[in-house]
Amino acid sequence: MKKELKVSPIENGTVIDHITAGQALNVLKILGIHAGTDAVLSVIMNVRSNKMGKKDIVKIENRELRREEVDKIALIAPNATINIIRNYEVVEKRKVFLPKVIEGILRCANPNCISNAKEEPVVPKFITVSENPPIFRCFYCERIVENAAEYLI
Ligand code: CTP
Ligand code: ZN
Repeated sequence: MKKELKVSPIENGTVIDHITAGQALNVLKILGIHAGTDAVLSVIMNVRSNKMGKKDIVKIENRELRREEVDKIALIAPNATINIIRNYEVVEKRKVFLPKVIEGILRCANPNCISNAKEEPVVPKFITVSENPPIFRCFYCERIVENAAEYLI
């Protein structure tokens, strides 16, 4: 008999599926879920996927994430799908959508950028240049960021 990884279905909440393998912890960071959280969570990393080879999954119980919260995930996992679960059924499924303007989530790689100046209260701001792969351009200095995971605030 073939052994398969079994991950329990959840009763109510949000399942973020098809996350780029290895990025689940950054997804939690983007959602503001840190060490010490009391959220009921499952984090599944580097499991086999027919569509993607390998993928990560995050399941958050008893919380339905809002669109604005989940779209930020597209910064690091452009293929992610958001599934809202009610009474064990998927009642809504959609892809993440990368906003055209990204504010306050990424910092600029350019140390001389005004968004990095300590004395200037400038919120970092990026324009999306490409969605998949995700590429961003600093609104202030035009520096390109391709590896958003390394620049998450
Ligand atoms: N899921 C869950 N609990 C449920 C229902 C679904 O944790 N009560 C999870 C599934 O394990 C899967 C995701 O939510 O990771 C989406 O479920 P479903 O649409 O049933 O799976 P697929 O058809 O494989 O999804 P897709 O077509 O998006 O690959
Ligand atoms: Zn900049």
